Amino acid sequence: MRLPATGLSRDEVLARLADYRSGDLAARGGRTFAYVYDAGRPDVDELSHEVYSSFLDVNGLDPTVFPSLLRMENEVIGITAEHLGGDAQTVGSFTSGGTESIILAVKAARDWARTHRPDVTEPEVVLPVTAHAAFQKACHYLGLKSVLVDVDPETFRVTAGAVRDAITDSTVLLVAGAASYAHGVVDPVEELGQLALGRGIPLHVDGCIGGWLLPYFRDLGVDVPPFDLSVPGVTSLSVDLHKYAYAPKGASVVLYKDPAMRLKQFYACADWTGYTMINATVQSTKSGGPLAAAWATLHAVGEQGYRELAAQTLRATQRLIAGIGDVPGLRVLGEPEMALVAMAAVPDSSGSGVDVFEVCDEMASRGWYVQAQLGYRGIPASIHLTLTASSDQHVDALLEDLAECVQIARAAQTGLDPALLEAVRSLDPDELPDDVLGTLLPMAGLEPGAGLPERMAGINALLEAMSPRLRERLLVAFLGLLFTPAAAAEAQ
Ligand SMILES: Cc1ncc(COP(=O)(O)O)c(C=O)c1O
Repeated sequence: MRLPATGLSRDEVLARLADYRSGDLAARGGRTFAYVYDAGRPDVDELSHEVYSSFLDVNGLDPTVFPSLLRMENEVIGITAEHLGGDAQTVGSFTSGGTESIILAVKAARDWARTHRPDVTEPEVVLPVTAHAAFQKACHYLGLKSVLVDVDPETFRVTAGAVRDAITDSTVLLVAGAASYAHGVVDPVEELGQLALGRGIPLHVDGCIGGWLLPYFRDLGVDVPPFDLSVPGVTSLSVDLHKYAYAPKGASVVLYKDPAMRLKQFYACADWTGYTMINATVQSTKSGGPLAAAWATLHAVGEQGYRELAAQTLRATQRLIAGIGDVPGLRVLGEPEMALVAMAAVPDSSGSGVDVFEVCDEMASRGWYVQAQLGYRGIPASIHLTLTASSDQHVDALLEDLAECVQIARAAQTGLDPALLEAVRSLDPDELPDDVLGTLLPMAGLEPGAGLPERMAGINALLEAMSPRLRERLLVAFLGLLFTPAAAAEAQ
């Protein structure tokens, strides 16, 4: 791959990229039920995109030289804190996304413990298994141990008792979801807050996906339990503005009740030859675009606008959940407080039921993107849907297609070769060298040069049969091959 010898014209650049984009999922239109958040407000999109580009070249590295960014950040944090039970003491940071907010909250807890509990040498974070994987990533990056706690198999909420049992003298952070990504339920934050207070351990509430929307859902009559910064014991909270606040991507907030704890999130280095680097977040140089666009979105939509968007989202969610009750063979897992729905198979006489991965493929062939969630620790495989304000218009058509796709999936269901499944189950991921792992990829149906196959059901079934560790290793190998320029060029 080489740079073009002379620059392409504007039209050529745009045409090439339009062509590249032709295989992407639709980010707008309401038929993509994961990854994207569509308010169905082209006016807001247009404004936020314009603002995004106008602040693209401004650098958030140093808040003293671009005071517009400092001002916008303080206003965005103030608005978010007000929305989520903060008070005059509440502080926070604007970050690039939920994962960065979570990494920073975990760092703050780690460094808080370093100061206040120097006896802890191998810090641990207690996580419900439903907590977003970003927490395990944060622990991995920052050298903490994650301790996973099973959730109630009916409600998919963690219990305070299970968390209590997992706490040790090395626990430096507890985590609650509001709500969990996979099942859309809110953990018992009040009880966990009491536990946290009693044990003197910080408690982070992950409101990345639910934090913005849940207060509106509560106003609309949903029984949302207390989960925000006003709950005693909660010390920090993350909320993504690029999800249900409908800001363009690259927009999240992490809030702290105690400014002293937020200081543990920051990093400074004066021990080199250049400028003293003082960073609030992981990134150093960062575009002002995402912050300005988030500020613009919040101000353009406003309180009344968010209420209306929440009402549309809630209507879509309630209609979908009611409709799934009429789709033979599917059921909703738990009772989500959020606009997140997980549908699993109703077990039949053989104990299994329809293959939900086949249902996902069938839905994809009809232009719907719904997300396969693999079974894990006794929690069944399911189909995930993230609903947004633009989903409402599609609920009837979605339900109709869903019922038909279940029928087709039942008829098509072939299952995998039991010998293959057995072979996969018996592989020890830690014993497999990288090159052997590479040879497993085609066997699993993953051939990077060919892109992702249209039908994923067989691959998902095989991945589900593997231990999580093997799955991780295999998919990391796949990612390595995907992001290899020479192989990608050959495949074009
Ligand atoms: C509950 C929860 N936490 C954290 C994240 C991570 O957010 P991001 O993908 O913006 O890093 C997500 C993403 O869906 C989420 O649902």
